[in-house]
Amino acid sequence: MHPETKMNWLSIYAFLFFFFIFEKCQTDSHSCGYPPSLWCSSLEIAVECGVLKQCMELNATRPVPSSPPVEVSVYYESFCPGCRTFLTGQLFPTWTMLGDIMRVHLVPYGNAKEFPEQNLFSCQHGKLECQANMIEACILNVTGHAAFPVIYCMESSSDVINAAQPCLQLYAPSVEWGTVESCMRGGLGHRLMHENALKTQALRPQHTHVPWVTFNGLYRDDWEDKAMSTLFNLICKLYKGIKPPTCTGAPTKLDQSFCYSFF
Ligand SMILES: *[C@@H]1O[C@H](CO)[C@@H](O)[C@H](O)[C@H]1NC(C)=O
Ligand SMILES: *[C@@H]1O[C@H](CO)[C@@H](O)[C@H](O)[C@H]1NC(C)=O
Repeated sequence: MHPETKMNWLSIYAFLFFFFIFEKCQTDSHSCGYPPSLWCSSLEIAVECGVLKQCMELNATRPVPSSPPVEVSVYYESFCPGCRTFLTGQLFPTWTMLGDIMRVHLVPYGNAKEFPEQNLFSCQHGKLECQANMIEACILNVTGHAAFPVIYCMESSSDVINAAQPCLQLYAPSVEWGTVESCMRGGLGHRLMHENALKTQALRPQHTHVPWVTFNGLYRDDWEDKAMSTLFNLICKLYKGIKPPTCTGAPTKLDQSFCYSFF
């Protein structure tokens, strides 16, 4: 065979080979309008995202929680550096791993003050913080269980307010930004902030700093110290049911269907 023809055949084979690998990886990572955290949340979404089989398996093997989840309530304000570090460095990663045994309640308000006569709030880090608190309160209200990833995304950004819209689009694509805007402009945002003010003022003991974190409605200094550095271990410890493998380090079967990179 002429050497050039041989080269051509080789490149055709190589092309077909890579095409096949590429195709396979493409179809494996089906794209849809939902973030991974929501893929198994309903049958329809699982079908749309092409992960129905995986979700059925996950649902069938997921241990039925034997005890109520640990309730973690975080009283915070959107611009406070310690709050942002806790939300992004402890709470969110722990929740992605232990979401089955914990429930997160976020109360954006913190050290703000309410002046009911003037219908005003004032915030520790200024006007913009009040605005960001309200955006987060609105997102919590209008997106329901998809809110935490959105707020995590905002709090990990350098510009909390400008991140709100892209974060919402990314993590709660089914919610229109207009819904958040009308919550901000209408009376709802204000009412939600007032509710957060009441929840924060009702804390016993009263909060002395933020983030202020309670577990199952209780505040303890030693819990909070642990929460700031090793929240994951604390949740595993506080959970009364059978500890999930993530807590005990029990080995789990891995699906080793890697897609190799040849380039
Ligand atoms: C998985 O289980 C949850 C909770 O029981 C249910 O809401 C969801 O629809 C299930 N997902 C699928 C894909 O069956
Ligand atoms: C949103 O706020 C309204 C008014 O306070 C309340 O009735 C509703 O339950 C809230 N929804 C969620 C998901 O928190």
